Amino acid sequence: MTERPSTPCGTAPLRLTLPTEADLGKFAASFARGLRPGDVVALSGRLGSGKTTFVRAVVRELHGADQSCSPSFTFRHRYDGDPPIEHIDFYRIDDPSELSELGLEEALDGSSIALIEWWRNAPDALPAQRYEIEIEGAGDEPRTLYLRPPQ
Ligand SMILES: Nc1ncnc2c1ncn2[C@@H]1O[C@H](COP(=O)(O)OP(=O)(O)O)[C@@H](O)[C@H]1O
Ligand SMILES: [Mg+2]
Repeated sequence: MTERPSTPCGTAPLRLTLPTEADLGKFAASFARGLRPGDVVALSGRLGSGKTTFVRAVVRELHGADQSCSPSFTFRHRYDGDPPIEHIDFYRIDDPSELSELGLEEALDGSSIALIEWWRNAPDALPAQRYEIEIEGAGDEPRTLYLRPPQ
């Protein structure tokens, strides 16, 4: 089910087949346990692929069911806890200049774990050291998840 061949240019992404939402949730939970403040997770995949579902599973694993979320911005949610978790969505970002409204600097100041959906709308806003997760499939399809750790 998993393979991670090494290549001269770094590590190829880990590839996982996740037939059900429960499988995706289980993987997100185990991934979450390895995250530390300052870690950035860049999520891609089409609408309905499961990016938000993945983020919610991470928050649930690290903060438990009782999450306190400050909806400070429409596309940025901060989950207070230890460590804080920032859930950011660049979906409606058409121009990187719009990012200042998100308070991204605070979200990426190293004290929180940050998970960012639609990050390719403003790739330069992210640190180079980041996890990249791509989810293939949507609707009732099984998901294939690709994980590239910081290089
Ligand atoms: N294997 C699966 N993994 C993740 N989500 C799944 C899976 N199967 C069905 N779903 C459903 O797909 C939808 C994914 O939505 P969401 O996480 O909001 O996607 P995105 O944030 O990528 O647009 C949810 O309604 C979820 O219940
Ligand atoms: Mg989403």
